[in-house]
Amino acid sequence: MEVKTSLLDNMIGVGDMVLLEPLNEDSFIMNLRNRFDHNEIYTYIGSVVISMNPYRSLPIYTPQKVEEYRNRNFYELSPHIYALADEAYRSLRDQDKDQCILITGESGAGKTEASKLVMSYVAAVCGKGQEVNKVKEQLLQSNPVLEAFGNAKTMRNDNSSRFGKYMDIEFDFKGDPLGGVISNYLLEKSRVCKQPRGERNFHIFYQLLSGASDDTLAGAQPLFGSLDEGEQYNVKLKLDRDFSKYNYLSLDSANVNGLDDAASFRTVRNAMQIVGFMEAEVQSVLELVAAVLKLGNIEFKPESRVNGFDESRVKDKNDLKEMCELLGIEQSVLERAFSYRTVEAKMEKMSTTLNVAQAYYARDALAKNLYSRLFSWLVTRINESIKAQAKTRHKVMGVLDIYGFEIFEDNSFEQFIINYCNEKLQQIFIELTLREEQEEYIREDIEWTNIEYFNNAVICDLIENNQNGILAMLDEECLRPGTVTDDTFLDKLNTICAEHQHFESRLNKNSKFLTDHSLPHSCFRIQHYAGKVLYRVEGFVDKNNDLLYRDLSQAMYKATHSLMRQLFPEGNPAKVNLKRPPTAGFQFKASVGVLMKNLQTKNPNYIRCIKPNDKKVAHIFTDSLVCHQVRYLGLVENVRVRRAGYAFRQPYESCLERYKMLCKKTWPHWRGPARDGVEVLLTDCSVPTEEFAYGRSKIFIRNPRTLFTLEERRRACLEDLATLIQKIYRGWKSRTHFLLLKKSQVVVAAWYRRYAQQNKYQKIKSATLVMQSFIRGWKARNILRQLKYEKRCKEAVTTIAAYWHGTQARRELRRLKEEARRKHAVAIIWAYWLGLQVRREYRKFFRANAGKKIYDFTIQRIMQKYFLGLKTTTMSPMDNSWPAKPYGFLEGAHTQLRRIFHLWRCKKYRGQFTEEKKAVYEEKLEASEIFKDKKALYPSSVSQPFKGDYLEIQKNPKYQKLNSAMEEKVLLADLVNKINRANGKGSPRLFLLTKSNFVLADQKTGQVKASVPLPDLASVSVSTQSDGFFALKLKEGSASASKGDFLLSSEHLIEIITKLHRIGTTAADRDQINIDISDEFLVQFKQDKVCVKFIQGGPKNGNSAACKRKNNRLLEVSVPSP
Ligand SMILES: Nc1ncnc2c1ncn2[C@@H]1O[C@H](COP(=O)(O)OP(=O)(O)O)[C@@H](O)[C@H]1O
Ligand SMILES: [Mg+2]
Repeated sequence: MEVKTSLLDNMIGVGDMVLLEPLNEDSFIMNLRNRFDHNEIYTYIGSVVISMNPYRSLPIYTPQKVEEYRNRNFYELSPHIYALADEAYRSLRDQDKDQCILITGESGAGKTEASKLVMSYVAAVCGKGQEVNKVKEQLLQSNPVLEAFGNAKTMRNDNSSRFGKYMDIEFDFKGDPLGGVISNYLLEKSRVCKQPRGERNFHIFYQLLSGASDDTLAGAQPLFGSLDEGEQYNVKLKLDRDFSKYNYLSLDSANVNGLDDAASFRTVRNAMQIVGFMEAEVQSVLELVAAVLKLGNIEFKPESRVNGFDESRVKDKNDLKEMCELLGIEQSVLERAFSYRTVEAKMEKMSTTLNVAQAYYARDALAKNLYSRLFSWLVTRINESIKAQAKTRHKVMGVLDIYGFEIFEDNSFEQFIINYCNEKLQQIFIELTLREEQEEYIREDIEWTNIEYFNNAVICDLIENNQNGILAMLDEECLRPGTVTDDTFLDKLNTICAEHQHFESRLNKNSKFLTDHSLPHSCFRIQHYAGKVLYRVEGFVDKNNDLLYRDLSQAMYKATHSLMRQLFPEGNPAKVNLKRPPTAGFQFKASVGVLMKNLQTKNPNYIRCIKPNDKKVAHIFTDSLVCHQVRYLGLVENVRVRRAGYAFRQPYESCLERYKMLCKKTWPHWRGPARDGVEVLLTDCSVPTEEFAYGRSKIFIRNPRTLFTLEERRRACLEDLATLIQKIYRGWKSRTHFLLLKKSQVVVAAWYRRYAQQNKYQKIKSATLVMQSFIRGWKARNILRQLKYEKRCKEAVTTIAAYWHGTQARRELRRLKEEARRKHAVAIIWAYWLGLQVRREYRKFFRANAGKKIYDFTIQRIMQKYFLGLKTTTMSPMDNSWPAKPYGFLEGAHTQLRRIFHLWRCKKYRGQFTEEKKAVYEEKLEASEIFKDKKALYPSSVSQPFKGDYLEIQKNPKYQKLNSAMEEKVLLADLVNKINRANGKGSPRLFLLTKSNFVLADQKTGQVKASVPLPDLASVSVSTQSDGFFALKLKEGSASASKGDFLLSSEHLIEIITKLHRIGTTAADRDQINIDISDEFLVQFKQDKVCVKFIQGGPKNGNSAACKRKNNRLLEVSVPSP
């Protein structure tokens, strides 16, 4: 990477115009062009930066560039806007000087871009931290908001600022930004209603229509963020995306190439949020923008009146209605304001009607005022957000981006005002540049020579003089009673300014222009410092008046829309002010005056923007256009002023550093003060003494030629030095190389020798080995031969011996084998013989014996298997299963075994019984003996256990008395029904049975009704059926018999009868109780005998049997069939 130490390094043309030689307009433009063609868009004139608009993005604004320019001196690097920004920022921070950056140039020359570059550079290099970053972000984000509302596409610039902007950025002592203040100047509001061909209205209109969501345009939806509780914003902008629906939006250039309105809208909304706009505020603003669009669509028609005049009426009330709804204005109020005008003078009120033209004028005036006030409100609102919080003293850097000088075909009041502003800026430029130059000379103690230059103060005076300046006269006309027109104003100018050498007019008495046809009658011309401009007077008076009918402002004040009311405070009827508001010209002059005062207190830094072509394209450099700008910006003059004294100046240190090689005494190092060094150097170079002057810290060079001579000599010297350096370097390099070679050679030789010796040694070694092995081989073979011979001899002896022994042995073996064969044959023959003998003896026993044993074994197996098979039967007496018999011969044993086994397991089962359980089973057995197959009720009782005491007489306290009345143990206690002879119905009774008697007691009281000793009981009668009736018959003549027999029914009939029978069986003192089982029996009731008869399938009233009296002698019991 190349390292730069001065802007003189690798310069294209000259980086500082001051060095231009020869200096004239052509060379100036040639230099600009040369640099422009090499993408060098910045050039200096001393500390002024000339910036050419490249119309394309260049890679020179990267963070690396920022770092490169950070904390470097102005002339150290090639010209750049960052160098200027850095210089300004550092002298603000380090020297505590307030700064202003003045950016001037034509529309489209890149002023706004330049201001943004300066701001972004300062933001990048100043302090960091959460709070500081927030401030920076807010300052930077104020740009998109203001651009959306204040910029528009024009013929010259797709993003032309239509307002002047001055922004003060405030810093603390460390150089951290604290906040800012923005001032705006004269928004070009006429654009709201009408745009020249090929131009557009302000961006925001298009952005809103393209970028807002459908909901925002048509329905209700918050724009961003969520609503606070209770808040409800109901936007109904009722807008259509189609631009052609709006009169105020010119059609022919609604869409601009490379501009994405929808995306910009999002950017703007985001920026508003960052700057600190509340949700409701954003909505209000958009509502007003929508209102302007709707206002443009209101049209008027004439309506004839009796007095012959036409009166205007709103044509289609739809837009009017929508607008009124949006702003909360009563429709009739606004409608009236468009038809009538109230004039107030000296406590009198007069109402006059408006004709159609006046109505349109009023409408447009309202739209323009509404929009420009909205814009000013936005600026105020942004200021509120970005203003510095701390009250401490702070340093200020002002950035001025104001509309450039404008010369159109048709120039009106706006251009006049704009160009006036530029005159003032030029004025301050001249003043401050000269002042600075002068101050530097004084500071450096150099003699000051006066410089001739054009001072435009005289033009400023022509415009702003309080007595006979053009603005003053315009105001006078506007305020004068009587008919005032643009022509009367021109007349006035003609009389008063006639003599002024910068004022030209056709009607001027000065005969010079009488025949000038380029100057129409309704125009005047001013020779501005930047050129002659022809102004058409039409509209001057109106625009200066900037009249808005009071009826309209009052109507606006009546709106419920709070922002709207805020914008039209003069509509407040309580504050009626009959004084005219200040004129536009007056206001502008005042604000420019304030601005100039402000700028004068600051250290100025200039950026002069130039546009290279009119086509807004890259790479094209139109000489004539640039020439014009250079001329009116007075740049060549600027260079001259700068060079008038001394063209070039440089601190001694850097001068010495740069040229020290030109003198032997200063090369390579000068020990001593830099100033002395420079003096020695310049004397040594024999530079004529009038060519330079010694300042306090800088050397001043009068002529660029001197500098270039120095540069030239430096270059030549550098070449010599380079050669010298090269020579020494080459020598050093060759020597080093040689030494290296030499050293390497020794190493290589050593290595090679070692290698050769090694090889030789290896060869000798292997030869020796070969020879050694040959000799050893030969020796070994000799020994081997010897040994082999000996071995063969031994082997031969052994073989012969072996053969001899073999023959002997085989002979012996043959003999032994023969012997053995004979013995074996004898043994076998003997064994066969013996075997024969034995078989002959035992054959007769063998077969019968074997059959018996097999038989026994088989039978034993079968039995074993059979018995094992029986093991599967269970021990339950109820289990009837028994394996099938396996063989016929086992039949008898099989049945016997089954019987025995059953009896045995029954016995086992019985063996487990306790005495009580035994008694229960005995009882059950007895019941079976009595009833089985005799009474139908019996089978159902088998499964019921005999409980005996159903009443729990021992435990139940109710029966305590009854219990104590019983002398013996109660065997059975139950609830029975005693059948009444009279009707056959039963009444409940307690039935208790002991060993010696049975007792009937009252169910409720437990009182004993009858107690009958068992010996008195003769028999018991029951039916064969499944009923519970039984009759207890008493012995005739016994003590109890007097009351008669008992006819009872019980659910536990079987148990009661069995227990009765059992007592009879066990008692020794009485007979067995008789039990009759038949379906008809007699019962003795007192004297009479009644027959009880049981029939089946009686009346079907339930499941239980029912008893009915048939006649005196017959009771019929009907039992339901089973
Ligand atoms: N330094 C630059 N680099 C790239 N493009 C630029 C530069 N300066 C200006 N432009 C281009 O020129 C256009 C006009 O610049 P702008 O600053 O808006 O002009 P002005 O404010 O002077 O009317 C910009 O929109 C941009 O496209
Ligand atoms: Mg601009």
